[in-house]
Amino acid sequence: MNDADAPLPTALASASQAQFVAWLREVAPYVHAHRGKTFVVAFGGELIEAGRLNALVHDLSLLHAMGIRLVIVHGSRPQVQAQLALKGVEARFSHGMRITDAAALECAKEAAGEIRLDIEAAFSQGLPNTPMAHARIRVVSGNFVTARPVGVVDGVDFQHTGVVRKVDVEAIRQALAADTIVLVSPLGFSPTGEAFNLRMEDAATRIAAALKADKLILIAEGAGIRDRSGRLHEELSVAQAERLLADNELDAASAFNLGFLVQACRQGVGRAHLIPLALDGAILVELFTHDGVGTMISAEDLASMREATADDVGGLLKLLAPLEADGTLVKRPRELIEREIDHFTVLEHDGVIYGCAALYPFPEVQMGEMAALAVHPDYQNHGDGERLLKRIEARARAAGLTRLFVLTTRTAHWFLKRGFVPARVEDLPLQRQQLYNWQRRSQVLIKTL
Ligand SMILES: CC(C)(COP(=O)(O)OP(=O)(O)OC[C@H]1O[C@@H](n2cnc3c(N)ncnc32)[C@H](O)[C@@H]1OP(=O)(O)O)[C@@H](O)C(=O)NCCC(=O)NCCS
Repeated sequence: MNDADAPLPTALASASQAQFVAWLREVAPYVHAHRGKTFVVAFGGELIEAGRLNALVHDLSLLHAMGIRLVIVHGSRPQVQAQLALKGVEARFSHGMRITDAAALECAKEAAGEIRLDIEAAFSQGLPNTPMAHARIRVVSGNFVTARPVGVVDGVDFQHTGVVRKVDVEAIRQALAADTIVLVSPLGFSPTGEAFNLRMEDAATRIAAALKADKLILIAEGAGIRDRSGRLHEELSVAQAERLLADNELDAASAFNLGFLVQACRQGVGRAHLIPLALDGAILVELFTHDGVGTMISAEDLASMREATADDVGGLLKLLAPLEADGTLVKRPRELIEREIDHFTVLEHDGVIYGCAALYPFPEVQMGEMAALAVHPDYQNHGDGERLLKRIEARARAAGLTRLFVLTTRTAHWFLKRGFVPARVEDLPLQRQQLYNWQRRSQVLIKTL
């Protein structure tokens, strides 16, 4: 028997293969959403000290391969500390900042140089049978950051401690456009030719803001933003984050990190994430799953419900396809959704459409039909179906409608619980009666608004 005669396999060989395929498909919307975006990823020297650099570089290489533009900012606090100890120099801090005297500056330069080389070396791996096989990643470092001295504050001279004055956006953009990863050390340079020791968080925030990056991802010790009761805040709007800071609800480290995330979002960065350093693969979980693993801050409300636009057609088709395939919803071809996009309300999370509903008004009888109500199976049972219903009801009321109806084959009980009552096909607007599919035998339910 030759290959052409062999029967085609109809199912995958094993459950683990099927699981793999399902998992990869689940990740696909995030891959599409992140491609071509610019992320600034910042981590403290503690990550290197904890022996996690290699694993992070593997994950960053994967992001790079998916077409994400990466700027990496590293810290060096524990390494500078170790160098100072080695030289027997005492470390001095004030106002939560290091006072960088000449000896400390030397240590900062040595630490940054060593870390930079370690990171470049890690990105140069390419051994077969490792996550870096075939990677061939180019990394550039340079004088991208202009700094100025912090100066004298309350009588304390911070000497070579600096803050970011300017970021060479053009140079970074050019490098990113050339498919290169940009690596920035926590040192900035002044027009007088001096080097200044920067806070890694300040450098990353300012670079992300200057680039108008899509994301700033801060990898730090701890586990996201938790309030005093230990509750993790998975998502916060800038307004909520500012309230937490103002109410003094957070421990010192959380407040310190959150301050930078808020600053980034305020200055035009799309989203800012804080993720735990101690968790292997945290950046992948944060970027490719709905709930993530740390805290995400955004300028607007995250799980945003809004009216659909033409850009949402692809996302809607993806959401509705499985429900159409199993007969829960009637099939809507792409052209129909394109034409009727104004009728849809969508739920979007970080660029991915995960819920929708549509309103079709029949103004002559002051009725409206709610159709295509769907919430992605992974995100059901969190009240989103109900939120969509409320939004459609509000849209209907605003359009002067007094009754809302649905046609459903499998979800009658969900609607009955939410104020709909059974009705007959004859109770529908005449136009809709004519389109009623007697084969499908949907149940008619009506709610008075
Ligand atoms: C119906 C649907 C939109 C609800 O979304 P959701 O975000 O899970 O909704 P909520 O969180 O507001 O409600 C969850 C509740 O509804 C219940 N529920 C879900 N599907 C149901 C169904 N088919 N029949 C009865 N109850 C249902 C859940 O058990 C849960 O009950 P609980 O509150 O007692 O725990 C979602 O299940 C879905 O997309 N289903 C497939 C598409 C569909 O049937 N659409 C309606 C076509 S007319």
